Amino acid sequence: MTERDGTAAERDGDGDRHRVELRWRGGGTETVRAAAAESVLEAAERADIGLPFGCRTGACATCTGRLLSGKIEHEREPRALKTDSLADGYVLLCIARPKTDCRIEVGTDVHSDLVTNPWK
Ligand code: FES
Repeated sequence: MTERDGTAAERDGDGDRHRVELRWRGGGTETVRAAAAESVLEAAERADIGLPFGCRTGACATCTGRLLSGKIEHEREPRALKTDSLADGYVLLCIARPKTDCRIEVGTDVHSDLVTNPWK
C-alpha cells in the first residue's frame, strides 16, 4: 500500500482533508487525501492515479466505486445510479466528496456489477 499526497492538498492546510483508500479487486491499494472541495476522482488524478471516468457529471456511471467504509456525499444528484445501487454502497467518484476517512472499491470491475451482460 502506498500513500500519495498531492501538492494542492498539501497547501490547503485547512485540516479538512480525509484519507481515501482505493482498493482494486485484483489486488492493490492506494491512499490519497481529498480536500473538502475535491471529488474522489479529482483527488486520485492529482496523485497521478488513473481511475475510469466518462462524463464527470454523475450521468454515465463509468466512475462507479463501492464504499466499503466511511461516508461520502454526492455533490449533486447521482443520476446514473438506481436507488437500490445507492443503498448497496455504490458511489459515483466524479461527484463523491468524502466526509470522513473512507475505503472505496474502485476499477472497471465495480461498474460491471451494475451492468447486465446479455451474453452470459
Ligand atoms: S464519470 Fe460519468 S458518472 Fe462519473
